[in-house]
Amino acid sequence: MAQYDVQEISKGVHWVGVRDWDRRMFDELIPLPQGTTYNAYLVRGEKTALIDTVNPGFENELLAKITMVMNPAEIDYIVMNHAEPDHAGSIPFMLEQCPRAKLITTKKGARMAELYFGATADRTIVVKDGDVIDLGGRILRFAEAPWLHWPETMFTFLEGERVLFSCDFFGAHTAKGLWDDENEELYSHAQSYFGEIMMPFRKFGRRGVEKARELDPLIIAPSHGPMHRHPENILGLYHRWTSGETRNKAIIAYVSMWSATRALVRTMSERLAAEGVEVVQYDLPCSDIGEIAKDLVDARAIILGSPAFLGGMHPQAVYAATLVKALRPPAKFAAVLSSFGWGGGAVKQAGEILGPTGMEIVGTVEMGGPPTEAEHSAVAQLAKDLAARMSE
Ligand code: FEO
Repeated sequence: MAQYDVQEISKGVHWVGVRDWDRRMFDELIPLPQGTTYNAYLVRGEKTALIDTVNPGFENELLAKITMVMNPAEIDYIVMNHAEPDHAGSIPFMLEQCPRAKLITTKKGARMAELYFGATADRTIVVKDGDVIDLGGRILRFAEAPWLHWPETMFTFLEGERVLFSCDFFGAHTAKGLWDDENEELYSHAQSYFGEIMMPFRKFGRRGVEKARELDPLIIAPSHGPMHRHPENILGLYHRWTSGETRNKAIIAYVSMWSATRALVRTMSERLAAEGVEVVQYDLPCSDIGEIAKDLVDARAIILGSPAFLGGMHPQAVYAATLVKALRPPAKFAAVLSSFGWGGGAVKQAGEILGPTGMEIVGTVEMGGPPTEAEHSAVAQLAKDLAARMSE
């Protein structure tokens, strides 16, 4: 059997999580260039609580790590901060291994735990905001934190040592580093993660940041990625990201089949830069969705470029526009560039998808065939108009 790493991260608190270096996709959507972790923690007083579990497939590693600290059969509580299987999927296994343990979760969490993991009412304790459990000299306080990332989510706070177990919130998909200062790219991973997972719930995230600040943690221990022993860094970033504050930055996401759309994009990119706008450009068929999500967190404008494809946008552009609509970035302005051979339709479809986002479509350029000087000039004017709107 492998020889595992278990670490005491605070007095009587052990990290017993799993590093999944080899995972490359999450939700069959999000790329994981450095894998991820499923962090679980043991908090020991006279009684012991296990905070969250791990992704199915790693149950035995979790059990082995707990065994390095104590007899798993003596665990009294299993805290389920969130019901998604990457944290809760090993609950049925752990309830078997810990015959006296009760599952602690929110009211909505209890319903999910019964539905997904067969956790019966007699083994479940339902908690609400502000409830505490005394482990014998050590107090765990529960704070409901809905929609971070599902409706049932909560935080668990260890008083005294002031460790905040925040589950998905404040996380990052990377297996590198146990602590925030052991991964120099952590905040870049954290921004991608925020864009992919938390951005659609910004208002709830705002409340989550306030709740976390009120608890004044010394350590923030999320369930993905390194723990924060400099919590002010991630709290400051989350404060900014959840506020919807944007920069004078435009994302150009485009696809081009025969280079006509690419030519329009080139003019747009150059002229926006000339107007002092920070530009990031993504050729969609060879771009990382995680990088785009990261830039969506604070971009003020989105420019979509697509050729017409059977009466609408190219499927790659449909995918990108659909993702933008779902992730609800704070961008205020949009523009669309398109080319077609014998019939259009891309601009119309872009409007249909982006319309409900509330973004103002500042302008569009749609042309048949390769771009003429007049069309390049139209794109240059659109870049100027867009930059002016962005700086208002
Ligand atoms: Fe990491 Fe929403 O689960």
